[in-house]
Amino acid sequence: MKGKFITFEGCEGSGKSTHVTLFREYLDKNGIDYVFLREPGGTEISEKIRKIILDIENKEMTDQAEALLYAAARAQLIGEKILPAINSGKLVVVDRYVDSSFAYQAYARGLGIDFVKKINSFAIENCMPDCTVFLDISPRVAFERKGGADKDDRLELSGIEFHERVYNGYLKLIESEPNRFVVIDPTGTKQETHEKIVNALKKVL
Ligand code: TYD
Repeated sequence: MKGKFITFEGCEGSGKSTHVTLFREYLDKNGIDYVFLREPGGTEISEKIRKIILDIENKEMTDQAEALLYAAARAQLIGEKILPAINSGKLVVVDRYVDSSFAYQAYARGLGIDFVKKINSFAIENCMPDCTVFLDISPRVAFERKGGADKDDRLELSGIEFHERVYNGYLKLIESEPNRFVVIDPTGTKQETHEKIVNALKKVL
């Protein structure tokens, strides 16, 4: 039997990393076996591509090249890790996946959904998550909670308008695929949000 595939998405500062960690702890505590990966990265080659993409020195990188590098890192991750794990019946949890490319590259960078879908359909060959958790918080509120941008990260320097476009992009994706997304309001306590996530994901575990 094929394993399940869960992804986590959200804007910068949405608490995604915290909740990915809490969800992994939940899986560990309950003896649920899983493979955890993050994007961009997750394999030796994909981590090398990640360094190129996120390097603040790479100011000349075109939006098209950036989108293709994300897709390349993803293609490697799918071929080397995600598909083998799913095909051997394992649960796969990934921190960011193709929805990040739709939200960031297609909507926020303005490359358009058709172009980004096209390059990714080549990279992912229908390997879509069973369920995607989206932490629904506007970037303005998220940035206040986080206390500003991380200066070592090229993408976090892109400004609040960019992140607003990312957020609006996610909302469009959710509208077009309401059944795949689990939309979670993360403005309660950490524990409350965690419980909401676990309850929502029980249907796929
Ligand atoms: P990371 O430090 O992992 O961010 P986070 O903790 O927010 O997940 O950096 C990943 C960055 O890459 C993040 O700003 C989102 C961006 N990204 C894209 O623009 N497109 C993509 O396809 C992916 C996977 C990530």
